[in-house]
Amino acid sequence: MANLWITKPLDKLLHEAGDSEKSLRRTLGPWALIALGIGAIIGAGLFVRTAAAVANSAGPSVTLAFVLAGIGCAFAGLCYAEFASMIPIAGSAYTYSYATMGEFVAWIIGWDLVLEYAIGAACVAIAWSQYLNKLLEYFGLHVPYEWCHSPMESARDAAGNVIASGIMNLPAVFILLVLTMILIRGTRESAFVNGLIVITKVTIVILVIILGWSFINPANHTPYIPEATTYTDSAGVDHAYGGFWGIVGAAGTVFFAFIGFDAVSTAAQEAKNPKRDMPIGILGSLVICTALYILFAYVLTGVATVEDFRHSGREASVAYAISTYMHGYEWLSKFVTVAILAGFSSVILVMLLGQSRVFYSMSRDGLVPKVFSEVHPKFRTPWKSNMIFFLLTAGFAAFVPEDIVGDMTSIGTLFAFMLVCIGVWIMRAKNPNAQRGFRVPLVPLVAVLGILANGLMIYGLGWTNWLRLGIWLVIGLLLYFFYGIRRSHLNNPGRG
Ligand code: ALA
Repeated sequence: MANLWITKPLDKLLHEAGDSEKSLRRTLGPWALIALGIGAIIGAGLFVRTAAAVANSAGPSVTLAFVLAGIGCAFAGLCYAEFASMIPIAGSAYTYSYATMGEFVAWIIGWDLVLEYAIGAACVAIAWSQYLNKLLEYFGLHVPYEWCHSPMESARDAAGNVIASGIMNLPAVFILLVLTMILIRGTRESAFVNGLIVITKVTIVILVIILGWSFINPANHTPYIPEATTYTDSAGVDHAYGGFWGIVGAAGTVFFAFIGFDAVSTAAQEAKNPKRDMPIGILGSLVICTALYILFAYVLTGVATVEDFRHSGREASVAYAISTYMHGYEWLSKFVTVAILAGFSSVILVMLLGQSRVFYSMSRDGLVPKVFSEVHPKFRTPWKSNMIFFLLTAGFAAFVPEDIVGDMTSIGTLFAFMLVCIGVWIMRAKNPNAQRGFRVPLVPLVAVLGILANGLMIYGLGWTNWLRLGIWLVIGLLLYFFYGIRRSHLNNPGRG
């Protein structure tokens, strides 16, 4: 009789981590990890999803939403850091939960992380396509609406008549393909390119904050927290706008901007000194980004209006705000556009990397087919897995709108974070004396606060997103009961 709650023994996990000859190369130090974190963190969440949160939920009070999302992440981040310092092995939340809450929960998390990494990469690819169009505009060119939007989107004229409908988002598919190829070539090279991109990305965020500050129009910040009402977006979906719930809903949306610091933990098996460096990588990147986000969102909502973000400034919102309101700074708008294109690429890269690493671990445990852990003989990367996830991410990027993939990513990740907070607490009770390079202060208080903050954001994302998460999890359960549980090495020792 298979055991749903079987846990993977800690010493077995650590043994596998030490077994690096057979698996992945250890090449990343603390700065490389922080760079990996920032590379994954600053991206579409800030440069694209912020506009959605302002338009649909919070107006200028989106800055408070960043605070709430940052707090939720900090709690979860501490728990991640403890786990990562304790179980320095590829696989992130999946691996941690296998050791603490058993195979069934581990499966749910591993499956759920596909929302975070693969679907998240699809969302950033869609955002990339928006900024590509902005770039082409500078040369008098553009990708026709039909070929850079999903079939679920249409453009309307001022009278509300449909003037064009999407067919598929080709540029998004293109960037996913290019980055998949780079990943297959190997982690060390991609980490180096990533380092350069991170510097550019942080530079433009700081430039926009400093140069945009004097263009803030106080009228755009009044009232700072809009009165609570309901806003119906162009797809006909109702959102709680303004007031407390507007901020909570916006936090769920901009939470996307924080996703990625946990991708650092998926690289634990490639870190030179995971015990010391994982907490530095995770928390360091989180703190730097939160401060930048709050300032950036303050400037952005001061420069452009909520109406802009609802209509003509909805896509490529940052470039729009600069070129429309910051006269004399056209160069900045161009620079930002190019830098954002590069920045998004590094985010997609890290997410695709995280995704293939999670399935690598799951495959080594027998929960998903072997093909996900087959390593390329020369490049030592799980190349077949990369190719399979290219197909999945490209499907979402081509045919589903940014709002849907963005919020699916947020809700999936929030759910995984809650489970990680629960896991750290269980692990303290079950394995109080195991060696930990880093210990979360005040457990269980911090774990409970993490569960509450992330749960609140899940609530704020509304029923359409709960339903999507539910459907996703049901599909996952079917796969587990028809495949995973029958093949898992722990449950079927003969197979391991
Ligand atoms: N945090 C990443 C981004 O905002 C996923 O693009």
